[in-house]
Amino acid sequence: MKKICLLLLSVFFISAIADAQTANQQDAKMNKFISDLMSRMTLDEKIGQLNLVTPGGAVTGAVVSSDVDNKIRKGQVGGLFGINGPDKIRQAQDIAVKNSRLHIPLFFGLDVIHGHRTIFPIPLGLSCSWDIKMIENSARIAATEAAADGLNWVYSPMVDIARDPRWGRIAEGSGEDPYLGSQIAAAMVRGYQGTDLKADDAVMACVKHYALYGAAEAGRDYNTVDMSRIRMYQYYLPPYKAAVDAGVGSVMSSFNEVDGIPATGNKFLLTDVLRKQWGFKGFVVSDYTSVSEMINHGIGDLQTVSADALKAGLDMDMVSEGFLTTLKKSLQEGKVTQQEIDDACRRILEAKYKMGLFEDPYRHCDTMRAKTSIFTEANRLAVRKAAERSFVLLKNNNNVLPLKKSGTIALIGPLADNQRNMLGTWNIRGEYNEDITVAQGLKNIAGNDITVLYAKGANISDDSMTIANVNNFTNEIVNDTRTPQQMIDEAVAVANKADVVVACLGEAADFTGEASSMSNIGLQQSQENLLHALVATGKPVVIVLFNGRPMTLNWEDKNADAILDVWFPGTEAGNAIADVLFGNYNPSGKLTTTFPQNVGQIPLYYNHKNTGRPLHPGDWHKFKSDYLDVTNDPLFPFGYGLSYTTFSFSEPVLNKTTISGNEGLTATVTVTNTGNYDGEEVVQLYLHDKFASITPAVKELKGFQKIFLKKGESKQVVFNITNNDLQFYNTDLKLVAEPGEFDVMTGPNSRDVKTATFTLK
Ligand code: NOJ
Repeated sequence: MKKICLLLLSVFFISAIADAQTANQQDAKMNKFISDLMSRMTLDEKIGQLNLVTPGGAVTGAVVSSDVDNKIRKGQVGGLFGINGPDKIRQAQDIAVKNSRLHIPLFFGLDVIHGHRTIFPIPLGLSCSWDIKMIENSARIAATEAAADGLNWVYSPMVDIARDPRWGRIAEGSGEDPYLGSQIAAAMVRGYQGTDLKADDAVMACVKHYALYGAAEAGRDYNTVDMSRIRMYQYYLPPYKAAVDAGVGSVMSSFNEVDGIPATGNKFLLTDVLRKQWGFKGFVVSDYTSVSEMINHGIGDLQTVSADALKAGLDMDMVSEGFLTTLKKSLQEGKVTQQEIDDACRRILEAKYKMGLFEDPYRHCDTMRAKTSIFTEANRLAVRKAAERSFVLLKNNNNVLPLKKSGTIALIGPLADNQRNMLGTWNIRGEYNEDITVAQGLKNIAGNDITVLYAKGANISDDSMTIANVNNFTNEIVNDTRTPQQMIDEAVAVANKADVVVACLGEAADFTGEASSMSNIGLQQSQENLLHALVATGKPVVIVLFNGRPMTLNWEDKNADAILDVWFPGTEAGNAIADVLFGNYNPSGKLTTTFPQNVGQIPLYYNHKNTGRPLHPGDWHKFKSDYLDVTNDPLFPFGYGLSYTTFSFSEPVLNKTTISGNEGLTATVTVTNTGNYDGEEVVQLYLHDKFASITPAVKELKGFQKIFLKKGESKQVVFNITNNDLQFYNTDLKLVAEPGEFDVMTGPNSRDVKTATFTLK
């Protein structure tokens, strides 16, 4: 036995050494190729590689790029973004490869955020599935479609931790938790990049927005960020690091400042942390005009900010053309060095080399592949399944859901028969006129024994300022010509004829996303009025809620019978919603972001500190950390979500109550399906360090498992707790586990947990 083990061990080491040797040889080959190429490049051509342009109209800011064809010919462009299609991309690549002096191929990037042509639920929704494999697969499918559409670079995953639902871009990330966020970040990178960047269906990922973009003050987009290093390391940086550890090829710097220096010119972020501490080997691209925006931040003129950004570690300038127009001058004036320009140029060329672009610049330009692998039936099915798994059942009184497949349903609301708003924010290649609406989905799934009556009931909003600002971008709110009262009257008449009301309410797709912050995160008044009238009919009311952020829903929670949060479900919206409403799929999603009771509680998040004067739930005392007019509780806590069945949880059982050094332990919890349906549960594990040199959070997620249980079935779920799980950043920003007592908490969400305790010696 010993001999076999030794043999296996030596085989393992020999193959590890062989792998390392091959990697070294490949690196040496790449370095030689790039050194040779760079030895033939002029300074202008090197600077040209650092320039990223958009050929079309404004993407997410002012258009700066002009005369793009000519610039490509002159070697002044390293990459293009904002175009797609194998033919168009071949044309542009042709200019670079055939007509520029050194024939260096271009990168072609696009915002592929939640699917490419077949649109998945918004990322916040996907995260609520807590299904890491499925999320990885969503990125794989997006990569396959994007690569078939000519692209080789995608601006995703967006991994910004967000604790403020006013911020519109909360929709694009995975919520408030760094542990779950890190797993999703890594999964997305694996999904996009696959196992071989040179494969026909691989695209280079770009993790963004580095860093801390989700912590904008007051939830207002692009606003100032200021936080302690400890908070940054403990809660905000882990998902970016996880993407780096997973091998992400590129990183996008963020718009905000950190420690008084815009991220795009922040050496601490781009060099000290990213490259030196984390060992990142890829390249860093700025966000859209974030180089020139440093002028507005108050750091200097275009030449100064461009030099600052290069020196800080930025390699590619998106759209500002600050690098293109000022770096040569800065070099002549000694404000940047040749080495700094060379380093940036080398990193971009290396990325192109790793993508195999020098071997075949047209790998992604196969028109046949575009015809057969984009928007396929299989991809639509994957989207539908993903959507079902992303929905979170927030309330279900008297088991009003699932609906019976007989009788009459009143389908009401501005989002009930609405194709324009199913995809959510950021879906450049999605075609809304192919989306399945709820009305269509109910028809597809309900069968013949059911009658569905429809009334719009209200506009998404009647607030002229909100409508004008939302419609400024993609024109998604089309208001009815009838008066609000006429619409409500019609809806009430329809409700009165039905057994149950399904009210499709919530946000327009562009209430969230970039530059879409909101100070009121409740339902719009038009919809509140409608809902009050529907509830007054006395019919059971099921709210199907469309949203890109947590919303304040106190009245809704008290007065509706059920709330199914469907986020923005993507291409197959209506089919997935109908599947869940009728119980073809039993909802299993769990919130990844806290729902506050009101805006005044924000920021409200589960992994908060205790303070010196904590308030215990349900209690109120003078001189405690609380409010006079609202409790400290969220409306729905992190990790929360119901099912059509019920689950019971045992106390967690630890295999050891004392550990020392690097020893680990296990926590075992028995979960039983105690209800009437088969279903899935996300079993969650939280830890709490009772006393530490840095004030600990009240709990932090450190494990989860999504399990399926037939009705009546029990399963034991075992969590391995390792020394890593006990670690935190101390005042020297070193990860340490300190001796002392720890609480282990397990349960179906962050609030309803059962606790056991162990000691680290
Ligand atoms: C600005 C956004 O912040 C970023 O997410 C996006 O990738 C770029 N624009 C390019 O469109």
